[in-house]
Order: sequence, then structure tokens, then C-alpha cells
Amino acid sequence: MKITIFGTGYVGLVTGACLADVGHHVLCMDVDQAKIDKLRNGQIPIYEPGLDNIVNHTVEAGRLAFTTDVKEAVQHGTLQFIAVGTPPDEDGSADLQYVTAVAKSIGQHMDDYKVIVDKSTVPVGTGDKVKAAVRTQIESRGLELEFDVVSNPEFLKEGAAINDFMKPDRIIIGTDSDRASDVLREVYYPFNRSHDRMIFMDIRSAELTKYAANSLLATKISFMNEVANLAERLGADIESVRRGIGSDPRIGYHFIYPGCGYGGSCFPKDVQALARTASEFGYDARILNAVEAVNYAQKHVLFDKISHYFGGDLQGKVVAIWGLAFKPNTDDMREASARTLMEKLWKAGAKVQAFDPESMEETQRIYGDQEGLVLCGTKEQALKGADVLTICTEWKEFRSPDFAAIASALREPVVFDGRNLYDPEILARHELIYYAIGRGRNQFQS
Ligand SMILES: NC(=O)c1ccc[n+]([C@@H]2O[C@H](COP(=O)([O-])OP(=O)(O)OC[C@H]3O[C@@H](n4cnc5c(N)ncnc54)[C@H](O)[C@@H]3O)[C@@H](O)[C@H]2O)c1
Repeated sequence: MKITIFGTGYVGLVTGACLADVGHHVLCMDVDQAKIDKLRNGQIPIYEPGLDNIVNHTVEAGRLAFTTDVKEAVQHGTLQFIAVGTPPDEDGSADLQYVTAVAKSIGQHMDDYKVIVDKSTVPVGTGDKVKAAVRTQIESRGLELEFDVVSNPEFLKEGAAINDFMKPDRIIIGTDSDRASDVLREVYYPFNRSHDRMIFMDIRSAELTKYAANSLLATKISFMNEVANLAERLGADIESVRRGIGSDPRIGYHFIYPGCGYGGSCFPKDVQALARTASEFGYDARILNAVEAVNYAQKHVLFDKISHYFGGDLQGKVVAIWGLAFKPNTDDMREASARTLMEKLWKAGAKVQAFDPESMEETQRIYGDQEGLVLCGTKEQALKGADVLTICTEWKEFRSPDFAAIASALREPVVFDGRNLYDPEILARHELIYYAIGRGRNQFQS
């Protein structure tokens, strides 16, 4: 099938590459000329494991191409996937300007039946807005053209995006059109071989499903962080508690890791956007607001512990940070906990020596020549001359480091672990003082 994808970010590029991989003919369109130039030169603008292989071989096979030409893009595909960003507006609601711009472009340039598939995460009711925007453009051209709008929210996880797309837990299709349902069934047929993963529903329910899924996952994290903060005050170890409750299949082990807060391009903005939608409809979403408030506070916990250790005076202190991305296996730093920590450290007069396996370029792009930031080529270099070490992202290569080398490199033998990676007894054996999240009374700092 001929498919157009608007937006070649984490979702659009993975979607385009995976659909081309199974045989569809895909044209990816983006307004970012530099991104499209890179892709045309065989460079992948983001870090996503396995993506480069699929992009390269589908481009070579002639099934994947890139453009900035909106007219060419609209005319290419029977399916028009919208995968542009929906960042938070100032009031927390989702900013729909990019989605609306694509809808308008489709209405301006289409000349036959199109299935317009919204993959971006959008508030309930956006399907109607997209429909109206497309129809207005068609009418202003004095034409009558048929089209359908479908909500097909994306559930891939950065870092495991290819596997998630190729073997999805579910494919949610929100539509009121049998014709569009048939087209989508055909597009996704190759992803349904072992069993049917498609769940059909109305557009509004599909839109809400995405927000409900992300909000529930964020709720699990904030809940655990709240219990971790309690554990610190009560002299309990949250890691024992985590194992104790995770063994109950009704609770499960997923998404109950305590830490220094969730980040990324999805959870923070989606929880806020759903709460905002709720308040627009006269409903006070108390759980969502609490999830957001707990997470906001949790992003400050590492700083508070470091500051407390130094008696509130961080002037001139050097903090080594391992991990800058919001989670492992991505270079994405949107809403990353490391950013909150670094910005607070700089404000307090401290310096940062940072290392991340994949997001050094992104850090450079965001913070440029920020005074008090040294980007280091290895995790060992980050330790040299540092007072203490802090872990913000649970990359595999941080999980079993040379503790003796850490102890001898640091000026103060202290590790602040925002991801609970280590066994406190092992660190004690290396005479390292260990502050983690929710691990007993000595961890409580406020
Ligand atoms: N990143 C994730 O893990 C993830 C997972 C599921 C859903 N989502 C949702 O998918 C959407 C996209 O997220 P992302 O992380 O891929 O965003 P992104 O910022 O990585 O990519 C968005 C792309 O859209 C492009 N764009 C903006 N306006 C455009 C236009 N008019 N025409 C063509 N391209 C345009 C931008 O230049 C950018 O390259 C968001 O709504 C997000 O909430 C993201």
C-alpha cells in the first residue's frame, strides 16, 4: 500500500521504516529540512537501536523515501499518517498546532480518497477537529472529496521501538468507517500473523485509551515513589517492598521501580494534558494531579540529598553524573530528571561532569557552552576530580562498575543513586557511602 507519514521523529520514522520493511511504499515528510537532508544521506537523526538497519535496507529497496514537499507527500499515500509532535502548551494542554497544520495541508492537496490516521497522542475530540480542518480546505477548493479520519495511537517505547512496532501488544483503531477499517486491517495484516492484535472502537475511546494507558503507568511510578519516600521516613527498604508487592500477579513487577522521577516526551505531558482536558470538562482529576505533583517533587529528591550531605553549601562542588537521557537506550532528554538536577546544581554554584552513552550530542545541543558543565567521553573521566557521583539513568554499563575505582577517584566516597542500581552491602564493602531512593532511614534527607 502507499503510505505517507507526516513527522519523522521517534514515532514517525519508526512507523515509516517498519511499514516499509513489511512491503508498503512509504514516503516520510517533515518540515525540518536538516532532518530530511540527514536521512537522505543515510544518517539517522535519533538514536533508536536497530532503526538504522531497517531504514537503510528499505531505502535501498526503494520502499522508503523522504521529502519536505507537502504536495508530493499528500499525493503519494492513500493512507496519511500524522505523527507530528503534540508538546504541552503553557497551561499543560496539548498543543495541536502541528496536527492542525498537517490536516490543513492534506485538505489543500488531496485529490482522491484518503484515510487520515492520527498516530500522535491527541486529546479526545481531536479526530473531529482534524475532520473539520480537512473538510474546510476541500470545500474552499470547491471540491467534494471523500476521506475518513482514524485514531491509531502509538504505544511504542523509545529504546525498544522496533520490537514494539513489529510485535505490538495491541493495535488500537478508532473509527466510524467500515471502509477505513478495511484499509487499516490490510496495512497491519503483517503484524497480526500469530494472533489478531487489532482492537476496534470509536475515535474518542481510542484517543482516551492512549492517555489512560500512559497515565496509569505514570501513576504506578508516582505511587512507588510516594511509598519510597515513606520508606525513608519509616526505616524500611523500598526494594524489599517492591519485590514483596510485585510478586502479586494482580500488581506485577512492571513499572513499580522507585527512582528520581519519570521524564520523556510522553508521561509528563500526557498526564498534564489529560488533567487539563478533565478540568475543561468541569472534572477535577485528583489522581492525575497527584501523580504529576509527586513526580515534580521526586525530580528534586537527588538534589536535596546532595545538598543535605554538603550541609546546604554546594558552591564549587563538582558532581559527576552518570546518565542524562530520560531512560536507557535513547538519546531523548525531554523532561529528563538529570536536567532538573543539573539546573539546580548550577544554580547552587556546583559544577557538573557528565557522561551518557548516547545523549552527549543532545546535551551539547540543549546546554551548549553552559558554565559549570563538562561533558566527559567516558564514565571514568566523569569521576576524575569530582566530589561525589550521582546516577540518573539506569544504563546497563552503569550496573556493575568498578567500585574500588569509584572510591579512589572521588574526593568524597559518596554515591547518590537515583535508580537504585546497587546492592548497599557491596558499596559498604568498598567503603562507599550510598544514598539511594527509599532505602532505609539513613536515606531520609529533607
Ligand atoms: N516518543 C515516543 O516514545 C512516543 C510514543 C508514543 C506516542 N508518541 C506521540 O507521538 C507524537 C510524536 O512524538 P515524537 O516523539 O515522534 O515527536 P518528535 O518531536 O520526535 O517528532 C515530531 C516531528 O514532526 C515534525 N513536524 C512538525 N510539524 C510538521 C508538519 N507540519 N509536517 C511534517 N512534519 C512536522 C517535526 O519536525 C519532528 O521531526 C507525539 O504526539 C507523542 O506524544 C510518542
